[in-house]
Amino acid sequence: MKSVTVNGKRFVPYLSEEALAEKVREIAVRLNNDLADKDPVFLGVLNGAFMFVADLFRQINIPCEISFVKLASYSGMRSTGSMKELIGLNENLRGRHVVVVEDIVDTGNTIVALQAALESREPASVQICTLLCKPTALLHELQLEYVALEVPEHFFLGYGLDFDGHGRNLPTLYHLEESE
Ligand code: IMP
Ligand code: MG
Repeated sequence: MKSVTVNGKRFVPYLSEEALAEKVREIAVRLNNDLADKDPVFLGVLNGAFMFVADLFRQINIPCEISFVKLASYSGMRSTGSMKELIGLNENLRGRHVVVVEDIVDTGNTIVALQAALESREPASVQICTLLCKPTALLHELQLEYVALEVPEHFFLGYGLDFDGHGRNLPTLYHLEESE
């Protein structure tokens, strides 16, 4: 595999398509086993998770529903930092088993915001499924039930993940050369 240049930065291959597919398959097997009688609602988080969810959901063979949400950043009333609002959620989640499907958990801030937004809808449970997790970057104590791959604190690109909006279409994972 060759390196790629996106928006002027060089990214080197991290994982082959085959290795990535195997990681996704392992997660699908676990979800099919664990949630067989739960009729879960899978919530894919756009944009980053789109490629992961497409590959993952093709291998989910239990009764389930699938929907997508997006986190829109907006400036809060207070001057400190930006807040995130969950948009696109039309499903009634009361009493349902929800599995959030994310591309990457870095500091965990996004997941914490998502969990809070979902809890107000009174689901029976909320579990997290993520393609990548950077355990050493986590700022919160989070229970991440389904992690396809733990990765170091590099900047990753491809397979849905972007650098300044670009590179999501790359069929496998790369990371920034400088972060080696
Ligand atoms: P967190 O809120 O710090 O956990 O960050 C989560 C979000 O930051 C992800 O959903 C991504 O959109 C973005 N992100 C974090 N690390 C990376 C990376 O290595 N590559 C691309 N996007 C990233
Ligand atoms: Mg994301």
